[in-house]
Amino acid sequence: MLKTPTNMLFMIILISGTIISISSNSWFNAWIGLEINLLSMIPILSSTKNKYNTESALKYFLTQAIGSIILMTGCLLMALSSEINMTMHFSSPQLMMINSALLLKMGAAPFHFWFPVVMDGVSWLKAILLMTWQKLAPLMLFSHNITFNKFIMSIIVCSVTIGALGGLNQTSLRKIMTYSSINHTGWIIAAMMINEMYWMIYFTIYSLITTAIALMFNSSNTFHISQLFLHKMNDPLTKTTTFVSLLSLGGLPPFLGFLPKWMVIQGLSQNNCFLLITIMVMSTLITLFYYLRLMYSAMAINNLQPKWNLKNNFFQKNQAALFSLTLSLSGLMIVTMTNNLLS
Ligand SMILES: *[C@@H]1O[C@H](CO)[C@@H](O)[C@H](O)[C@H]1NC(C)=O
Repeated sequence: MLKTPTNMLFMIILISGTIISISSNSWFNAWIGLEINLLSMIPILSSTKNKYNTESALKYFLTQAIGSIILMTGCLLMALSSEINMTMHFSSPQLMMINSALLLKMGAAPFHFWFPVVMDGVSWLKAILLMTWQKLAPLMLFSHNITFNKFIMSIIVCSVTIGALGGLNQTSLRKIMTYSSINHTGWIIAAMMINEMYWMIYFTIYSLITTAIALMFNSSNTFHISQLFLHKMNDPLTKTTTFVSLLSLGGLPPFLGFLPKWMVIQGLSQNNCFLLITIMVMSTLITLFYYLRLMYSAMAINNLQPKWNLKNNFFQKNQAALFSLTLSLSGLMIVTMTNNLLS
C-alpha cells in the first residue's frame, strides 16, 4: 500500500485530515478535516487497478459524501437557530442530525449497510485502515456530544445485535471482520457513555487486535473460510496464534481483548445500566459461535499436515504481526503484572 510515492502522499494527507478534525474546536473545522480525510482515502482505496477496488471506492465516496452533507446541514441549522447553545441541548434535532452523520461515517449499526460491501472489495491492508483509522475522527467528534439517552442506547443495541447476527452466515473473512467491527463500534460507544478515557483504551486495544489478525490473513492471502486450511496457514504455530487471536478479539478472559470488555461491563453496571449490559453480553455469546466455526473448519475438519511442507519462517518475515500477536495474546497478563508491581 505504501509502495508508491503518491500513496505515501495520500497517507500523509489522510492522517493530517484526521488530526485536523480531532483537534478542531468548531464543527466547521471538523467537517473540513473529515473532508480532507475522505478525499485522500478515495485514491488509496482505488490504487490497485481492478474493478472491485473501484467499486469499493465509489461506494465509499457516495456514502461518506452523504454523511458530510448531513453533517454540514446539521451544523448550519445549529448555527442558524441562535438561541441554541451547543453544549446545552443534547437532544435537539440538529444534534441528532450531526450524530447520525457521524454514525454513518463510522459505520455503526442502523447506518452500517455500506460497510460490508466496501470492505469486501479491498485488500487486507486497506481493510485495516477502514476498520481502525477511519473510525477515529467520527468517534472523537461523536464523543463530544454524547450522554445517556434513548437514541444512543438504541444505537448501541442495534450495533451489538447486528454485529452478532450479521456474521453468522458469512463465508468471507472480510465480512466477518466487518461485522465484528460494527459490534465493537457499539461497545466503543457504550464505553464513551461511561467516561472519556475508556473508549480510547477500548479503541486502541481493538485496533491492535484487529490489525494483528488482518496482517496474518494478509500474509497468507486468505479471504474465505474455505482457504483457511491452505498452504501457508498449515504451520501449526501460525494457525494456533491466528485463531487464538480471534478468541482475543472475541473477548475471552486470558487474552487482551477481555480487558476493554471488562471495563465496559463494570462501568455500565456502576451506572445502573443493567438491561443494556445484559443485552450486550448476551449478544457476545452468539458471536463466539462464529469465531469457533472458523477455528473448527481450520483445525478439526481440514487439518491436514503434509510431510513435505515447506520450511516456514513466517514470523521472521512478519515482525509487525508477531509483535501485535504477542501483545494480543499476553497483554492482559502483562497489564495485570505491571499493575501488581506498581501498587
Ligand atoms: C463484540 O464485542 C464483544 C466485547 O469485546 C466481544 O466479546 C464479542 O465477541 C464481539 N463480537 C464480535 C462479533 O466481534
